[in-house]
Amino acid sequence: MEIKAHAKLNLTLDVLGKRPDGYHDLRMIMQSVALADTLTLEDNASGQLRVSTNLHFLPNNDKNLAAQAALHWWEARGEKPRGLDITIEKRIPVCAGMAGGSSDAAAVLRALNARERSPLSPAEVARIGERVGSDVPYCVLGGTALAEGRGEILTPLPPLPRCWVVLCKPEFSISTPALFAKIDSVRLRCRPDTQGAIDALEAGDLTGVARRLYNVFEDALPDRQRNRVADLKNTLIQCGALGASMSGTGPTAFGLFDSEDRAMEAREKLEDFGGEVFLTRTV
Ligand code: C5P
Repeated sequence: MEIKAHAKLNLTLDVLGKRPDGYHDLRMIMQSVALADTLTLEDNASGQLRVSTNLHFLPNNDKNLAAQAALHWWEARGEKPRGLDITIEKRIPVCAGMAGGSSDAAAVLRALNARERSPLSPAEVARIGERVGSDVPYCVLGGTALAEGRGEILTPLPPLPRCWVVLCKPEFSISTPALFAKIDSVRLRCRPDTQGAIDALEAGDLTGVARRLYNVFEDALPDRQRNRVADLKNTLIQCGALGASMSGTGPTAFGLFDSEDRAMEAREKLEDFGGEVFLTRTV
């Protein structure tokens, strides 16, 4: 069985505060893009759960979120683990703020659910995904959605009008837990206009959404990394992006375009900067 795992972007990301359980309450608008990993699931007779990927540095044991998803699935269904080979062809940059690992986990849950004689609803699958990670429930549902709470309280939103997306993952990576820890001590200069972005989505107004792209984690980045993300965003805007921001806890910067030509120009320009650059579309 072959299945796609789409990357996500944050159109907005706000951190509302720290919770007693150590997590943070969030309010963010999520958007899927066509850039995706491909997963293949195959039963095996050995009884072992095995993961392999085209990236040698990713774990091939149950530290991999795709394997954790399968283990949580069987546990939630009251079944014993079975022999399963999960092969992942990674295209989504790793540690990039694009939920690559969470999306792989969500794809495994959707694939295992699809094999059931009476499959669970997407909301029930998302609830199992919560045990694997905060972004997994959204990745099960995909599309355009408001995510609140830890990220697991989801409200579908009208789709972002189709557009081109250019994104660049710089060479460095960010530790998600470290940035969450840092945000508690940072005085946030600005907050996203989440409601304004939702109103713009409801009006089908791409420019209105693009003008409101905002991620509070940019303020928590160390100076050098913040400057690098700012340079990428400026380049995207100079090339004609309607708006630009960082996704998740970064460091991927992205811009939204209503012209494919301008998006192609931006991709070329960013390739000179280094890092991993992609031109993709929203889905
Ligand atoms: O849920 P997940 O395992 O993906 O989260 C990774 C880390 O990110 C958590 O251990 C926590 O430090 C931080 N986090 C948070 N609040 C959230 C989501 C994640 O503090 N809503």
